[in-house]
Amino acid sequence: MQETKIIGISGGSGSGKTTFVNRVRAESAGVDVLVLQLDHYYHDLSHLAPEARDRKNFDHPDSIDSSLLMTQLAELSKGRSVYRPTYDFATHTRSKETVQIFPAPVIILDGIFSLYWAEVRSILSLSIFVDVDDDVRFIRRLNRDVNERGRTVDGVIQQYLSTVKIMHDQNVAPQKQEADIVVRWMKYNDHAVSMVSGLIKNWAGMA
Ligand SMILES: Nc1ncnc2c1ncn2[C@@H]1O[C@H](COP(=O)(O)OP(=O)(O)OP(=O)(O)O)[C@@H](O)[C@H]1O
Ligand SMILES: [Mg+2]
Repeated sequence: MQETKIIGISGGSGSGKTTFVNRVRAESAGVDVLVLQLDHYYHDLSHLAPEARDRKNFDHPDSIDSSLLMTQLAELSKGRSVYRPTYDFATHTRSKETVQIFPAPVIILDGIFSLYWAEVRSILSLSIFVDVDDDVRFIRRLNRDVNERGRTVDGVIQQYLSTVKIMHDQNVAPQKQEADIVVRWMKYNDHAVSMVSGLIKNWAGMA
């Protein structure tokens, strides 16, 4: 069997990682590409009282269960299916339901900490950082949180200044130094999408 190829995609919140991944996948039609969202791997906080859960810092990499992630990536690479956890953001707990995920020749790991852990980086065939200026990311986040999540402008600004910006500068921005390629995503960068999907098709023997 062919070796599993894992691509890690990081970048700040609101940079467009998921949009980029969706476009790459669409352009890689015919190749079985599994996308894993890092968000499902948050630690279960069911042992804490609800108020204590809300005080946790979800913008810090320690909030993610990286050892479970590593175990499951290793299993998938060996061609075995895994039961991926499902995270409930409303209660900050793992749902009882797990989702059976089947191995695929190409796996894309999408999340703000995808390139954070050396152990995870060591199993990647390609690492990508989606790079967007902070002001543009903030505007995208503000639009999303106000229009889709019912937040107030003041609330979004407050959260950005008190935690999001600091955590980004400390834990997310440095991952740019670890990336094989840095994709500018101020505009929809079609050439970058074609390059990455070209590589995926190449791995699959289609190009
Ligand atoms: N090149 C672009 N130009 C303009 N808007 C974009 C672009 N790429 C993505 N967007 C928009 O920006 C917002 C954030 O994009 P997306 O959800 O893909 O980011 P993300 O990096 O996956 O964020 P998160 O870390 O929160 O998952 C979305 O509303 C998306 O439609
Ligand atoms: Mg996303």
